[in-house]
Amino acid sequence: MCFTTPAMKRRLVLLFALFALSALAQTSPSTNLAPTPPMGWNSWNKFACNVSDELIRGMADALVKSGMKDAGYQYVVIDDCWQVSRDEVGNIVADAQRFPHGIKGLADYIHSTGLKFGIYSDAGSKTCAGRPGSLGHEYQDARQYAAWGVDYLKYDWCNTTTQDAPAAYALMRAALDATGRPIVLSICEWGKAQPWLWGKRVGGNLWRATGDIQDRWEGKKEWSPGDCCSYGVVDIIDAVADLYSYAGPGHWNDPDMLEVGNGGMTDTEYRSHFSFWALLAAPLIAGNDLRTMPPEIHDILTNKEVIAINQDPLGRQGRRVRKDNQLKVDVWAKQLTDGSRAVILFNRGTAEQNIAVNWEEIGYPANIVASVRDLWQHKDLGKQTGKTAATVPAHGVAMLAVRP
Ligand code: GLA
Repeated sequence: MCFTTPAMKRRLVLLFALFALSALAQTSPSTNLAPTPPMGWNSWNKFACNVSDELIRGMADALVKSGMKDAGYQYVVIDDCWQVSRDEVGNIVADAQRFPHGIKGLADYIHSTGLKFGIYSDAGSKTCAGRPGSLGHEYQDARQYAAWGVDYLKYDWCNTTTQDAPAAYALMRAALDATGRPIVLSICEWGKAQPWLWGKRVGGNLWRATGDIQDRWEGKKEWSPGDCCSYGVVDIIDAVADLYSYAGPGHWNDPDMLEVGNGGMTDTEYRSHFSFWALLAAPLIAGNDLRTMPPEIHDILTNKEVIAINQDPLGRQGRRVRKDNQLKVDVWAKQLTDGSRAVILFNRGTAEQNIAVNWEEIGYPANIVASVRDLWQHKDLGKQTGKTAATVPAHGVAMLAVRP
């Protein structure tokens, strides 16, 4: 009978192995994490080491009260400096003065507001601020995070000396998965070992592609002589422009957290910053003081039409389709699930100018008719044939949806 032929047996064994493998993949706690770019708030850009229970609770409350939670922001992440030492058995110890209710108490509070909770560590012996890192304690730390109710880990790369980056991040992913709790892994390796090439393979959900952002429009600056560099918004946009093919559901290029509202740029520049992060399918992790933000900043961070471009389930990272160095103009486009395009007309220059885009540049036949909507003015610009254009302020963008 044919079921007993060796060829059939081999096929059955293969089929069973495939079935077992796919079942295993389905049950991994990290399957389906971050299907769209993660959104949330992180303490570093504004508060650096000045973190506390009261501050983080205040931000969770503000996320809810400001409507940001409703707009999609979800993770509240404490960055560096919550940890001070290890105890006699190697467990990580939180700063008891700054976190008097323990990390578990804080996590429970964040969860009670309907938000998720994130924390920070480092693959090396020490964090960038010199606190204990996770090297040699990966499984122990992961178990602790899971017991606290951590949903998101930002894992930094300071003091790693000769460690291998893919191996270090794969190890932490394995440790997180072994806890059984789904935990987003945010790789923070600053692009040094090209994490876009291996971040997905090692189970990273997002990976920093550059050095740290700082709250300025443009320009690289050394931290100290010989120690390169922090970056302005424009530098980061240019650095991630060619990485679009590596982003997709569950695994995103991370051009670093938002500086919107931190005071170093104009509202026009912050609108450009936010528009680009949305178009780049970047994680939208706010980094300002949400308790005191003025209405203009609130309106940028909660622009639901722009956020919808970022969160589009197709998960494409937008790409530059034109760069005119003479006029200092870029045109960028992002394909969306329904086939429409989000478009950014970007004026890098210092004077207002009119910027046009024709349909062929954004991947449409030349003469089709499309509805155009301005996502900052929240205004339909009507049906247009072949092209559209907008007047764009210095350092500004027009962000449009083009729907044939
Ligand atoms: C590095 C990271 C930053 C921040 C600090 C904390 O510089 O890139 O985002 O986490 O460390 O020390």
